[in-house]
Amino acid sequence: MGMAAAAVAVMVILVTSIQTIGGVIDKPIESDSPAKSATALTLSSSSSASASASAPTALSYKTPLAYGSNKLGEKTGELVEQAIATGFRHFVTAGHHQKHNETGVGIGWKASGIPRNELFLQTSFIPFSESHQDFKKQPSDPEELPSTIEEQVRLSIQTSLTALQTDHIDALLFNNFRAKMWDTDEIVKAWKVLEDYVDKGVLGQLGLTSVHDVEWFERFYNSTRIKPTIIQNRFHSNRKYDVPMQETFAKHDIWVQRFWLLNGSSGMGIKNKDMAKIKGVTPAQLMLGFAMSMGSETCLVGTKSLQHMKDDVEIAKCYPALFFDDEERKEYAQKLGMKQPKDQPLPGRSGIDYGNDKTPKCQSTQEI
Ligand SMILES: NC(=O)c1ccc[n+]([C@@H]2O[C@H](COP(=O)([O-])OP(=O)(O)OC[C@H]3O[C@@H](n4cnc5c(N)ncnc54)[C@H](OP(=O)(O)O)[C@@H]3O)[C@@H](O)[C@H]2O)c1
Repeated sequence: MGMAAAAVAVMVILVTSIQTIGGVIDKPIESDSPAKSATALTLSSSSSASASASAPTALSYKTPLAYGSNKLGEKTGELVEQAIATGFRHFVTAGHHQKHNETGVGIGWKASGIPRNELFLQTSFIPFSESHQDFKKQPSDPEELPSTIEEQVRLSIQTSLTALQTDHIDALLFNNFRAKMWDTDEIVKAWKVLEDYVDKGVLGQLGLTSVHDVEWFERFYNSTRIKPTIIQNRFHSNRKYDVPMQETFAKHDIWVQRFWLLNGSSGMGIKNKDMAKIKGVTPAQLMLGFAMSMGSETCLVGTKSLQHMKDDVEIAKCYPALFFDDEERKEYAQKLGMKQPKDQPLPGRSGIDYGNDKTPKCQSTQEI
């Protein structure tokens, strides 16, 4: 087979594999906007859509990679626009949050020229507490902030819709301050209001941040009318890389979104740097690709570097071809420090059976 034919064959395998992994059907994004020239990530209909079936109009999308707006400050708009031009389509921000500039996300996607229905916009609600360091009062807020959590949710959603320049938000998460669960009764009260907004089609999916307690989650899950479909958690040794949560995530078809993949205990993926070198990708790319290979995972990144944006988009496209088999994924997990019980297989799988062909199929766009 000539080089060109071989390349086409690999592409066909890759596209087939990306469509198969996670049982999702991909729809390539088409647009006449300037960002068209970049190869965009595809938005995939999520199998968890059924969980929020009562949302009449909201779409349910899943991508392996999302751009988070944490600590981007004044540069948020510019960076979001750049991320869209590079291929990102899913954006994660937070309302009334000290470290997120939600308005910047709105400005960035508007400036990109990409139609709203080709983007997945996600935000979160944090309970209003002026004494808490993550909470930030917004200029449009009344002088006296609402005291009940129900009123706070309504005000927060209205503020987010205005900031994001949209009439609907694809997903909204209840944000637990710094991995400390908020009072359960208050979360339940807030959730009922969020459910009303799903009914109205203003919100798509609902989720929570920082849930590492199986029993708590099962109880909460059973108490809800509209089920949480998303959990956003750190991927970190101090939470056992969520191995204890894996069965629960699978049972409820939870879309797991990960932060601290690079700047946490993986040390930028350095624990597996030798494997990355052999594969011709950066340790950071391999770390992200490993998380993506776990099935329902979405990697959150908030890089300010164009080169890193390109690297991450590249891995999001080729991750099914990154690991040759599950043994290699297990080797990666072990070096990382994940303690996977023997009777609990690592979630997800390597995408393609290459037999004895160990030629790297993912390439970094930079010199390794
Ligand atoms: N729910 C929560 O409590 C919570 C907490 C933290 C974060 N989050 C969410 O997760 C998002 C990501 O936050 P994070 O703390 O995990 O990571 P991050 O803010 O993206 O930081 C990642 C660090 O890794 C570096 N890096 C090196 N290679 C990279 C590559 N290929 N791609 C991306 N970054 C690379 C980045 O530097 P360069 O900028 O130079 O690339 C940056 O310093 C946030 O924006 C936020 O939406 C949620």
